[in-house]
Parts: sequence; C-alpha cells; structure tokens
Amino acid sequence: MAKQVKNVEYGLEKIFTGAQDFLPLLGTDYVEFYVGNAKQAAHFYKTAFGFQSHAYAGLETGVRDRASYVLKQDKIRIVLTTALNSESPIGEHVKKHGDGVKVIALWVEDARLAYEETTKRGAKSYMEPTVEKDENGEVVRAGIYTYGETVHMFVERKNYNGDFLPGYVKWESDYNPEPVGLKFIDHMVGNVGWNQMNTWVKWYEDVMGFENFLSFDDKQIHTEYSALMSKVMSNGNGRIKFPINEPAEGKKKSQIEEYLDYYEGSGVQHIAVATDDIIKTVSDLRSRGVEFLSVPPQAYYDEIPARLGAHDHELQEDIEAIQKLGIMVDADEEGYLLQIFTKPVEDRPTLFFEIIQRMGARGFGAGNFKALFESIEREQGLRGTL
Ligand code: FE2
Repeated sequence: MAKQVKNVEYGLEKIFTGAQDFLPLLGTDYVEFYVGNAKQAAHFYKTAFGFQSHAYAGLETGVRDRASYVLKQDKIRIVLTTALNSESPIGEHVKKHGDGVKVIALWVEDARLAYEETTKRGAKSYMEPTVEKDENGEVVRAGIYTYGETVHMFVERKNYNGDFLPGYVKWESDYNPEPVGLKFIDHMVGNVGWNQMNTWVKWYEDVMGFENFLSFDDKQIHTEYSALMSKVMSNGNGRIKFPINEPAEGKKKSQIEEYLDYYEGSGVQHIAVATDDIIKTVSDLRSRGVEFLSVPPQAYYDEIPARLGAHDHELQEDIEAIQKLGIMVDADEEGYLLQIFTKPVEDRPTLFFEIIQRMGARGFGAGNFKALFESIEREQGLRGTL
C-alpha cells in the first residue's frame, strides 16, 4: 500500500534548530528585475505567465529617473524597473548584465534591526534604513549586497496599509489575462564564480544566520560533458531557501560558466515558483507561448513508477499528461515532486524559471539533474557555448 502524500507548502515548520535566529524572515516580499524596457517586460509577464497588474511608479507619479511596474500572482510580487536616462545606475546594470534580478526583498518585522544585525556581521551596505511614507502609512527599507551586484532589501511594512510601497499608485489596466496558478516562490538560486560557492555559503551562515541543509558535489551533478556543485542554504524557519551553484571542471563548458560569461558575473540563475496543479499551470504556460527545456526521453518516463515505488510512493497525476507536457518527477522518503524548467526568458542565456509542485518531497530534484542538464547542454550546443 503506497503512502499517501499531499501537496505541501514546504518550509512553514522549522526544519532545523540552530542558534537563536538573529534575522527572522517572514517571507519573500518582492523580487525586482532591472530591465531594458519595463513596459514590454510587464506585458510579457502578464500575457505569458499570468501575472496581474498591481502598482506603478514613473513620470506620472513624480518619479523622474525610472519606471517600475509591480505585478502580482497569489503571494508572488515582481517589480520590473527600467531607467529613464543614460546616467542611471539601472541602465548601467542592464548594460552589464542584461535583464536580471537586482533585488531579492525579504519581509521582516524590523528592518533597522535586520540591517544592524547583518552589517555588524560583515554585510556590505546597499541602502541604510530609510522610511518612506504616504497616506497609507510608512514602510522602512534597508538593503545589503549579496553575490555579484545582487541585493537583499529588508522590508518592514507593519505600519503600512497600501498596495505596495509609498510612491506607487494602483495600476489599473484594461488588459488582464487570467493567472496560471503560480502561488509563491519556493526557492531562488544564485550562480557564483569558480571556487566561490563556499565563500557564499559561509556568508549566508555568518551574515544571515542561514544553515546549509543539502549539498551536491560535482560527482552527483554531472553529465558526460560538464559539472557543477550546489549547496542549499535555508533561513531559520525554512521559508527562504537559496541554493548556491558554482561551475566545476568537465570536458566541456559548465552551464554555470555560460551563465557567468553572459551575465558578466554572479547573479540569480532561476526562480522556482510553486503551483498546486502543475498540469494545469504548465498547460496554460505552454499555450501562452512560454518555452520549456526539451522533454526527457521515453525511457525517463518508463522509469518513474519504479523510482517512486522505491520510496513507497505512487504518482497521483496522470503519467501521460505529465509526459506530454515534459514535466519531470523526483522522489525522496517523504514524498515526490513535479518540476519543469523554462528556457531563459531573455536573449542572454541567463535567468530562467522553474515551476514546482511538492507532493511531500523537500528536495530539489537531484534525481532529475542528469536529464535536466543533458537538456540544457543540447541548448548550449545550439548556442555554440558548450
Ligand atoms: Fe530549482
């Protein structure tokens, strides 16, 4: 008799008991992308990914140097920001990195305290605690740098009732494509340079109070041609999970090295978003033109019942639907997970998305790494970057 497993919002219970949590995090607040054309990017994320128009700041609201569109889907908030002149550091960021994630904002009770605790442990300051106010109250934000030019912003909004942040107005649009069932951010992965993974693991431990709860070395994550290493960092309550990757030597170029070449440094590689109906979500995304990595071969799907059976689980979804959509499945002791990866969402082979549904499993799909990386290598081959 197979164990019953159910859809889980992974991380709401404490997963380890380390030292006292000096940086309590309530969740991901928002993710801000610096992009070349925020108006067009917003259209893409609405049309293709089902995000909803939420808030806006720009010339019409008195902001002179940038325009920002805030999009929402269930608990996920993304901000798309573009420069309005050639002097802007936003433009410099886009020139160097292409479109990419600038800010991973974390929701906290006390932004001043979060800033103080992390900077005294060695974090480099990005923005000192700053109070922003409007008729809906006040928000305190403070920021520190993490890998590359990426930033963690601490957001304290307990005295704020507005939609997003002071300075933003509600974005009303006549164009409102349906959501696709994306619910919350499950994890966000950073790519760092050669031999830098452990430096950043230690940084998350020392500066942020995170713990390393899973590790994969190049013997586990490799194909015939290339390899990488990865360590998963988690905060005290398990809500925030940041795997960190670095390239490893192989016969050919690691996908991480390709990312570092085109992003011109360390940065966010992928954002994994959770759904509780991956078949519907991926069907919708495909019909809206989102491109995914190629479908694993027949042999991969033939092995799924045995892979789940080895852990005494049984797939509850229709295997034909899973296979038709190219969704991958991995299992561990506690359950299984379903996942699929998009192609990069811009021309540089950098940022992409993962869609994940956890049916009890807490892992990251290690059993899929080989099939996944072979698929990525086929794409790298086409780009001439393998
Ligand atoms: Fe992932």
